[in-house]
Amino acid sequence: MATTPAPRWEHAVVTGGAGFVGSHLCTALIDQGTAVTCVDDFCTGSRRNVAHLEGRAGFTLLPADVTQPFETAPADLVLHFASPASPADYLRLPLHTLETGSLGTRNALALARRHEARFVLASTSEVYGDPQQHPQSESYWGNVNPVGPRSVYDEAKRFAEALTTAEADGHGTRTGIVRLFNTYGPRMRGHDGRAVPTFIRQALAGEPLTVTGDGRQTRSLAYVDDTVRGILAMAASDLRGPVNLGNPTEITMLELARTVIELTGSSSTVRFIDRPTDDPAVRCPDITLARGKLQWEPRVPPAEGLARAISWFRAQAA
Ligand SMILES: NC(=O)c1ccc[n+]([C@@H]2O[C@H](COP(=O)([O-])OP(=O)(O)OC[C@H]3O[C@@H](n4cnc5c(N)ncnc54)[C@H](O)[C@@H]3O)[C@@H](O)[C@H]2O)c1
Repeated sequence: MATTPAPRWEHAVVTGGAGFVGSHLCTALIDQGTAVTCVDDFCTGSRRNVAHLEGRAGFTLLPADVTQPFETAPADLVLHFASPASPADYLRLPLHTLETGSLGTRNALALARRHEARFVLASTSEVYGDPQQHPQSESYWGNVNPVGPRSVYDEAKRFAEALTTAEADGHGTRTGIVRLFNTYGPRMRGHDGRAVPTFIRQALAGEPLTVTGDGRQTRSLAYVDDTVRGILAMAASDLRGPVNLGNPTEITMLELARTVIELTGSSSTVRFIDRPTDDPAVRCPDITLARGKLQWEPRVPPAEGLARAISWFRAQAA
């Protein structure tokens, strides 16, 4: 008789689990039979994002701010994803962002140490700042303005990486660091300031799509299912990282705007607006490491992922 394979983890703690990426992680883990405690203070996330998990076996929602020490049932995996992530959010919450990256990471690491759990930090391509190396590999140290408007996020994540490294060196905690590049998909907020949800919201409303600068700056966009698969592959490995996770297909902001207009069938036009200070000109991951060590690479092409995201936004608006 065929037996169902045991889940890789008994109990995972996902900080920031009620956010965009975190809620997809919680769902993937519950679906594979791992119990999940989702820890969130809802500063940028929402209970709605995990409403479909409430009542499912093994799911616990723990409302808590991770800048304060917190405790859970024994866990064998801690995924530390709590942090405001969109520029609109971290500019609104600058000190909370710094404290979540520093004190919050300290508390999440302490939890992992107490429970002898595998720990994975969600870091970001923003640690590369406005990069002078292209594409960015993990060995590049970055070009970050420590007093610019984005520094509250960039430096919080750089500090979180340093703390995670010191924890592994000093206490032997089994840590891993993933550097996520732009990820998009269902459950992003239309007003969070990030390009994909902004363009989709504007296109569906028939408003002009606001492209910053001349639109020639590039981003690489990974669909959330690909990102989640990469994070769980990292968690299942014993790699310390950092490991880049992103889609190396580069797209200019103007191309993205035109693609969204086409896929939504919108009559919207493009309107050019000022580019934010320290906005990176290029962003593209070198994923050689993830390909080689995790056998991971993105599978969802941009047109397909964007179409899925658009249908989710349409359903929300209905
Ligand atoms: N989405 C991306 O493209 C992307 C790219 C790079 C890195 N990341 C990282 O992935 C993680 C998730 O990003 P996201 O896009 O899902 O953002 P999000 O804002 O949707 O989710 C973040 C979640 O963390 C929670 N949170 C924030 N501070 C907290 C605190 N002190 N205590 C408890 N909960 C707290 C928020 O309420 C929210 O639910 C972040 O750490 C972010 O830096 C995301």
